[in-house]
Amino acid sequence: MAIAHLLSIPFMLIFLNHLTNVASTKPTTVQTLNTNTEFFNPKLPPRTISSSKRYEGSSDLVNLRYHMGPVLSSAPINIYLIWYGKWGVSQKLLIKDFLLSISTTDRRAAPSPSVAEWWRTVSLYTDQTGANVSRSVVVAGEYSDLRYSHGNALTRLSVQQVIANAVRSAPLPVDHKQGIYLILTAEDVTVQDFCRAVCGFHYFTFPSQVGYTLPYAWVGNSGKQCPEVCAYPFAIPGYMTGGGPVALSPPNRDVGVDGMISVIGHELAELASNPLVNAWYAGEDPTAPTEIGDLCEGLYGTGGGGGYIGQVMRDRGGRSFNVNGRKGRRFLLQWIWSPVLKACAGPNAMD
Ligand SMILES: *[C@@H]1O[C@H](CO)[C@@H](O)[C@H](O)[C@H]1NC(C)=O
Repeated sequence: MAIAHLLSIPFMLIFLNHLTNVASTKPTTVQTLNTNTEFFNPKLPPRTISSSKRYEGSSDLVNLRYHMGPVLSSAPINIYLIWYGKWGVSQKLLIKDFLLSISTTDRRAAPSPSVAEWWRTVSLYTDQTGANVSRSVVVAGEYSDLRYSHGNALTRLSVQQVIANAVRSAPLPVDHKQGIYLILTAEDVTVQDFCRAVCGFHYFTFPSQVGYTLPYAWVGNSGKQCPEVCAYPFAIPGYMTGGGPVALSPPNRDVGVDGMISVIGHELAELASNPLVNAWYAGEDPTAPTEIGDLCEGLYGTGGGGGYIGQVMRDRGGRSFNVNGRKGRRFLLQWIWSPVLKACAGPNAMD
């Protein structure tokens, strides 16, 4: 019944909005005695995707509600990765290290503030049975669509055909229906609305396309197409160049992929808390829900808002990050709306 109802919902996108109007505390810059890491809160020009959703940064105005559907509560969350187009080995390793860092809770393996602590906010969401979003994530299978099976200009619908093709071509483990698909498109692939309105989206597959209903997310590498839109703040709009603010240096020296990682985090957080688009979202319209990542778009630390991204860290090489992952990796992840604090939250919070 629920599924039949769901399938009547028009195909929708999860828009990535720039958050320009978070109630701002005074931006501050704090220098620590630790010479390895400096804290700073840079003021940056806004991203070029303007906000289509109203959010004033006050919990009174955020009407995030639970709509009785499931969350991704079974452990572990199996991710089936689909690499569409040409990907470098080091790029794949970087993205996989991020995904595997989500369940790296051992502080010796990933010191605080960590990716796992960042995901802790997502795990605070529960379904009607009281089951929390799982804290355990594994990469359960991978498929490389090296030959661009559906060309290098995908539509929202052909993304599902890419999944169908991957499922047919690669014998996935028999239990793969207990998971989610993550489709990542290479920098030479255009996707409908990519760069103009979205940097990524999540939805679920249709039986007519893939054979069954399973949640999926798509995120594109914007490095060559629109880094100032989708790899913000590692690239900023061109009109600001010349004496204005400079883009932040990406933690892993890859503007496109470092930018994707924050978008992947955003989409996974929303997918986990709203996998069939009938669980956690704000707003009355399920075709344009405001989800737990949307509420904190553009916010990476304490004191963010009004053009400030919030207090993040900078290493001795000048590279910006706000969380640690496995194998010494560092990432810059946007914050997530906490149902407990009723505010955006992240493990690098200063208060
Ligand atoms: C589950 O979510 C509830 C409500 O947000 C929270 O109080 C609790 O700590 C969570 N449990 C786990 C194991 O994360």
